[in-house]
Order: sequence, then C-alpha cells, then structure tokens
Amino acid sequence: MDISIIGSGYVGLVSGACFAEVGHNVICVDNDQRKIDMLQAGKIPIYEPGLEEIVTRNVASGRLRFTSSIEDGVDNSQVVFIAVPTPPQPDGSVDLSFIERVAREIASVLKPGAYRVVVDKSTVPVKTGEKVTETIRRYNKEADFDVVSNPEFLREGCAVPDLMNPDRIVIGTNSDRAMALMHKIYDPFNAPVLVTDVNSAELIKHAANSFLALKISYINAVSAICEASGADVEKVASGIGMDKRIGRNFLNAGLGYGGSCFPKDIAAFIAISDELGVPFTLLKEVQRINAAQRDRFLKKMRETLWVLRDKKIAVWGISFKPDTDDVRSSVAVDLINDLTSEKAVVTCYDPKGAEKAKEFNLVPNAKIVDSALEAVEGAEALVIATEWKEFANIDLKEVKARMHTPLIFDGRNLLDPDAARKQGFVYHSVGRP
Ligand code: UGA
Repeated sequence: MDISIIGSGYVGLVSGACFAEVGHNVICVDNDQRKIDMLQAGKIPIYEPGLEEIVTRNVASGRLRFTSSIEDGVDNSQVVFIAVPTPPQPDGSVDLSFIERVAREIASVLKPGAYRVVVDKSTVPVKTGEKVTETIRRYNKEADFDVVSNPEFLREGCAVPDLMNPDRIVIGTNSDRAMALMHKIYDPFNAPVLVTDVNSAELIKHAANSFLALKISYINAVSAICEASGADVEKVASGIGMDKRIGRNFLNAGLGYGGSCFPKDIAAFIAISDELGVPFTLLKEVQRINAAQRDRFLKKMRETLWVLRDKKIAVWGISFKPDTDDVRSSVAVDLINDLTSEKAVVTCYDPKGAEKAKEFNLVPNAKIVDSALEAVEGAEALVIATEWKEFANIDLKEVKARMHTPLIFDGRNLLDPDAARKQGFVYHSVGRP
C-alpha cells in the first residue's frame, strides 16, 4: 500500500517506520522543515528504542521517505493518516486547530476522481471525524474520500514493539471501500481488528487512557491507606492483580502518572463529557488523587528532613518514565521544581532526559549532572523520581559512600527496601513499610 502520514511526531514517525517495516511505501510529511532536514539526514529527533534502526533500514530500502509537502504525500498515497498534535487548552479541552488546518490542506490538494481515505490517528474528541468530513467537503466539493478513525495505543519507550504487536487495532468507519484499504494496511500485523463506527473508535481512545489512569489513581489511593495502616501496597497490588478480571498491569503505586498523554487526555475527557451534558466526575477524583500523591511524598520528605531550605538533595530521573527522553508533563520535573521552590539545593540526573530538560529550561533552579553517582555527591537525601533500570542496578555501597547522609525517598518503589536498609540507608518508599 502507498501511505502518507501528516505529522512526523511520536505517533506519526513510529507508525510510518513500522508501516514501511511490514512492506508498505510510506511518505512522512511535516511542516517543520528543520525536522524534515534532520530526518532526511538520517537523524531521529526523539529517543525511542529500536526506532533508529527501522527508520535507517526502510529509508535505505526506499520504502520510507520524508517531505514537507502535503501535496506530495496526498498525491502519492491511497491512504492519508493525520498524526498531528492535539494539545490541551487552559480549560482542559482539546485544541483541534492543527487537525482543522490539515483537513483544509488535504482538501486543497485532493484531485477529482482520485479516491483517498483520510485516517485520523491523533487522539481527538468524539465527533472530530464528523468535523473533518464536513471541513474537507466544504473546501472541496468534488473530492472523493472517506474519513476513518484509527486511534493509536503505543506507549513511549516501547512504541516500536507496541506498534508491531498491538493488543488490538481499532478501525472506525461506515465505508466498506475505506475498510477494505484499512484491512490491507493492517493485514501484515498479527493482531485482532475491532471494526466500529467513527464516533465509537474516537471514544475508545479517551476511555482507554482514562481507565488506565483510573487504575493508577486507584492503587495510589490504596497506597495512602497502606501507609496509614502499615500494609504493603506491592503485596496488595499482587493480590488484586492475580484476579484475571483485574490484572496486575498499571497497578504500580508511585508519584502518580505524567507524560504528554494521560494528564491531557483525562482533562479532555472531562471537558468532552461536560460539553455533552453528562459530566464524568469520577475522573476529577482520578486527577485529585494523582496530585495528592506528590503532595504526600513531599510531606514525607519534610517530616524526615524537617526543613528543606538549603538541603542538598539528589534527584534521579527527569523523564516522565523510563526508556524515553520525553520530559513533557513529567512528575519528576514537577517534583524537582517543588523542591527548588522550597530552596532545596537540587542536583539531578537522567540517562536520556537531561538534554530536553536543558533545552526547554524545565528545571531552571536545579543543576543537571552527567551521572547518577555525581548527583549523589555530598547529598543529604536521594529521591528516585523515574524508575530507570540503571538506578535499580546501581551499587548502593558506592552511593552511600558518596552521600553526606544515607537517606532515600523512592518515589517509584524501585529498590528492595531490605537491600537498601541492609546497606545502612534510611529508606522511604510509597505505600510500603
Ligand atoms: C499512554 C498509554 O499507555 C498508551 O496506550 C497510549 O497510546 C498513550 O498514552 C497515548 O495516548 O499516546 P504513555 O503516556 O507513553 O502511554 O506511558 P504509560 O506507560 O502509559 O505511562 C503513563 C504514566 O503513568 C507514566 O507517568 C507512568 O510512570 C505512570 N504509571 C504507569 C504509573 O504511575 N503506574 C503504573 O502502574 C503505570
């Protein structure tokens, strides 16, 4: 199949590379010429395990190329994916201006008699597909096209395996003609396909992310009860997770969820439900619990350290989760800024996220260093804010030797409490005795 993807961000670039990997011809389009130049020069703008290899391989085989021209993409493909950002607005609702603009741009280059399937892959509110259809039709009366919703469920840090082996593929359309082409695209992937109408497909994405966030807030609320009662949240999570109806995934208590998806999507789903006149108040509680998790953690730090001002604190982790350099809406970043606003002297380290944190000046009052051990030099406390494997495998003896006082606040329950205490650390984590 000949495919174009408009928007070469996380979803667009990884999807494009994976479509090429299974044998399709893919044109990735982006209006950021700098990004296109970079990609054409073989440089990948994001860190995502395995992505560079498949991009390089498929560019070399001629199945993947990059352009800044939407016309080039639309002319040379049967199926046009939209994968542009849908950022939040101050009131939580979604800014759909990028989607609207792309719809108009597609309309302006669609040629009469050349049928195209326009597929929305960006996370959008229910009924966006209807708007995209109306917009294309308004700007091009002759166009022969169908609009499909095909939400993406990849996780950052494991985007390539998630895309190559998805749990499910959701295709929302009422058109048999569009569906036949979508099946051709996804035939090489070994995954169940769920066919729905456009509105249901759009809703599935927001409902899935909200449910996952709900699961995290649920276990985080349980972690507070564990702390108050002396129970162990890991054991509780294992006990509930062994029930197949519940499952153990996404029951890791910690500092709460962050990243560019969950906080934005939960706020969007609340705004959508409000707009539809059926307020989803449960999700407001999910948000409240998420924020409370960081507050409780800070309170624990204050209780132990008494005064945070002038305390030398090391923070491991800046990215919103391990195996990514993405620092957008990272809880680690918020925590670092909480600490520096209380005048603690913070030195932080992240295996991949440091560069972007510096580029966007996200932790302006903290020092970013080049290694985990450098960060703990002379520190009066160590905070683990992101659960990178590197931190789990570190030699705790060496960490203790470098610290001024051996105190750990593990915000991701990464270390074994017994092992840390055996090394002589005073060790605090989330919901564990
Ligand atoms: C999430 C979804 O998992 C994907 O399915 C979806 O496609 C994506 O959003 C999106 O909408 O684009 P992602 O944001 O990459 O993916 O990361 P997750 O692995 O879901 O983690 C999100 C946050 O939840 C992280 O801050 C993580 O630390 C936190 N988390 C996750 C927990 O606190 N506990 C858990 O048990 C799991």
